[in-house]
Amino acid sequence: MPAIGLDIPTPIGQSPAFLSVMAAVSRLAPLARPVLLVGERGTGKELIAARVHYLSPRWNQPFLKLNCGGLTESLLEAELFGHEAGAFTGAQKRRLGRFELAHRGTLFLDEIANAPMTVQETILRVVEYGSFERVGGSDTVQVDVRLVAATNMDLPALAAVGTFRADLLDRLAFDVVTLPPLRHRRDDIEILAEHVAVQMTKELRRDLFPGFTARALKTLGDYDWPGNVRELKNVVERAVYRTEPGHMVDDITVDPFVSPWRPAGGLPPQTAVAAGSPMSPPTGLSETAPYDFVGRIADIERALLQRALRLNEHHQKRTAAFLGLTYHQLRSQLRKHGLIVRPPRPDEDGSEFH
Ligand SMILES: Nc1ncnc2c1ncn2[C@@H]1O[C@H](COP(=O)(O)OP(=O)(O)O)[C@@H](O)[C@H]1O
Ligand SMILES: [Mg+2]
Repeated sequence: MPAIGLDIPTPIGQSPAFLSVMAAVSRLAPLARPVLLVGERGTGKELIAARVHYLSPRWNQPFLKLNCGGLTESLLEAELFGHEAGAFTGAQKRRLGRFELAHRGTLFLDEIANAPMTVQETILRVVEYGSFERVGGSDTVQVDVRLVAATNMDLPALAAVGTFRADLLDRLAFDVVTLPPLRHRRDDIEILAEHVAVQMTKELRRDLFPGFTARALKTLGDYDWPGNVRELKNVVERAVYRTEPGHMVDDITVDPFVSPWRPAGGLPPQTAVAAGSPMSPPTGLSETAPYDFVGRIADIERALLQRALRLNEHHQKRTAAFLGLTYHQLRSQLRKHGLIVRPPRPDEDGSEFH
């Protein structure tokens, strides 16, 4: 088995669901058949596609990627199959497409459900016969490419309503690997978070990652992670860099947009009103029960306190007045949220409030 290049991150995880995916990938990697990876955003489809390639006999041949979403039909066609000189305005020279460039290697097609029907038809032909024509050309090009496709959609349902070709689905579905969402493999959260934190500590050129507090681990473990590993990575990287070097990571901000000052602009009127109010649920959090009322109110309180402290240059008496609190109420709020960073200045010891 070839060694995986250093630039290919090894997938991390130890939950039974994750381990069975890894076993399936090792089993299917050596075959030159198409693979379909199904999973929510951020579950690791691209990472697994790379693993399929690097564990295959094609590992030292090209591994190319293309996202089928967001390109017009003609652009997608040109990207996949290339074009001849003069095929369309601006096409001065012949350009090879991804299929030709990936010859003998692997092509990863992300968001395959977004490929228009005509493009799906051509892809099917390449999968079946290994042949196609460049856009604007009539020569048949023959290639040997292994296809790995990914989607977060229900392709059989799309095929049933006629927006995805059933024959292409049949070919792609030689082996289907479905990546479990992070919330269904909570055993992996801590080990992934630890891994990301250690990497981030290195990147920040800090000495050592001192670990997460129990409170931080609980926040990470309780959250639903709609953005899966990608979201976890962002949240942990942010938490590490916001923590003083040498301190344990305690404060986990899942949604960096949570703020009582969040502007309501850009949303349709009825949503805008809700989004502007401090009671609106922070984006990304699932609306399913249990609704973490206490946790969300605490987030809002902490955000208000931090913002007021900043606006008042951390002068606690002014901050208290700004918030309409007594000095002692403010101190107790700061303590509750772990925001006490220094003893009060002599001029703000608050005795006048007794
Ligand atoms: N099991 C895992 N171990 C380590 N990193 C992972 C794992 N799964 C996903 N990641 C990382 O999470 C991010 C999102 O993964 P990606 O493969 O792009 O997801 P998808 O293509 O499903 O949206 C990437 O930075 C990837 O390296
Ligand atoms: Mg992706």
